[in-house]
Amino acid sequence: MRRRRWPAPRWSFPGWTLTDHSASKLEVIPVEGLPEFRPGDDLTGAIAKAAPWLRSGDVVVVTSKVVSKIEGRLVTVPSEPEARDAVRRKLVEEESVRVIARIARTVITQNHLGIVQAASGVDASNVALNEIALLPADPDASALALRNGLRERLGVEVAVVVTDTMGRAWRVGQTDAAIGSSGLRVLHSYEGQVDPQGNELAVTEIAVADEVAAAADLVKGKLGGTPVAIVRGLEIGDNDSSARDLVRPVEEDLFRLGTNEAIAQGRREAVPARRSVREFSDEPVAEESLRAAIGAALTAPAPHHTHPMRFAWLRNRPVRVKLLEAMRDAWRADLVADGFTEDQVAKRLKRGDILFNAPEVVVPFLVAEGAHTYPDARRNACEHTMFTVAGGAAVQGLLVALAAEGLGSCWIGSTIFAADIVRETLGLDETWEPLGAVAIGHPLRAPEPREPRDPGEGLVEF
Ligand SMILES: Cc1cc2nc3c(=O)[nH]c(=O)nc-3n(C[C@H](O)[C@H](O)[C@H](O)COP(=O)(O)O)c2cc1C
Repeated sequence: MRRRRWPAPRWSFPGWTLTDHSASKLEVIPVEGLPEFRPGDDLTGAIAKAAPWLRSGDVVVVTSKVVSKIEGRLVTVPSEPEARDAVRRKLVEEESVRVIARIARTVITQNHLGIVQAASGVDASNVALNEIALLPADPDASALALRNGLRERLGVEVAVVVTDTMGRAWRVGQTDAAIGSSGLRVLHSYEGQVDPQGNELAVTEIAVADEVAAAADLVKGKLGGTPVAIVRGLEIGDNDSSARDLVRPVEEDLFRLGTNEAIAQGRREAVPARRSVREFSDEPVAEESLRAAIGAALTAPAPHHTHPMRFAWLRNRPVRVKLLEAMRDAWRADLVADGFTEDQVAKRLKRGDILFNAPEVVVPFLVAEGAHTYPDARRNACEHTMFTVAGGAAVQGLLVALAAEGLGSCWIGSTIFAADIVRETLGLDETWEPLGAVAIGHPLRAPEPREPRDPGEGLVEF
């Protein structure tokens, strides 16, 4: 959804051009004497009767609760508090299209109007004890209908704002905001305007309809039974914007999940986000990302409280090439001895190109210091397997951590088959056991997201 922008009125001052959303003076007038509204009541008639003094250019600000009431958006519920609360919770779920955050009893949702607020706007205040109010189904349409109705009854061209009370992220307390609007320029953009000091305002965009809603609340209150107020003196603008234009499109929303939910999602997706990435862009790998990933990988579990992993980062290009060429020569000799044709050999060797081409290569090593020794070969072999699987856990940790850093990787097994060559080329002693090599870089194409697999035959229950 693209947000629309409307031209603002312009005044020229020497040296700069200025458009401002502010009025020189405002009046906020409560509409007194309105009745308690019930489904089917004539809100337009009631306002016309209570405020015959309405003028063109006024903004009629109406609490959404009365719109909900006349539009029959009341749900009859048990008046016993616990049962009422259970129905309320169910209604909150039904009215939401997306849960954004939950903390204790508070649930922040996005409703079908796109509005993010507590409890999907489902509200048990200012209604009978056996009722709960839902938000109007289409508050912009309700605002338009009231605006048209007031034009018909009183011959005035007013704007209408339908309000609800909302909390704000990072701020204690609630204010009223516009959830429906008609006839008012709901946003005033200062983009490209220059202030008296000569600073260009690049991003300032005032939510005029929300400011109107909050101002009106100062005379409406919550307990006095004054659901309508008039804001007089504002330039209402001439356009077709509506409160829907105040809903920030999700793709522009930096805070589309609650903190706990974002952390939980990150945890859930961390492991499946790792994919074998075999093609990389030229973008260099940031040293701190690689170091962070290796730091995370080194937290992998290991037997006997040991730290048996070493990650060798082949930063020196000639050293990397020397190692890979020596491994390739040995692999070629094996393949020829196996009886493969020249063509087949060339095809297979080509698969090793990834380690030549990847922006970075890390060779994981197992150094099984601290392994126990036993009098028999069987247990020594088991001990070694135990350390090897710990090495696998650490490499997987590296790949997952790299994915979390936005880096692609592919675990290549080849060094396992060329352990002596690796040790000789890198000058390592025989306790260093290579566990493959990891090609690292920024993926050429963003890997498809992937869901965890259905365990299927991978889960065997006894
Ligand atoms: C120990 C090990 C060795 C591997 N060796 C290679 C390899 O030599 N070449 C390669 O392209 N992929 C290699 N892979 C990656 C697998 O092919 C890959 O994990 C598998 O196809 C599943 O794809 P995914 O990692 O995207 O889930 C290796 C994986 C492991 C765990």
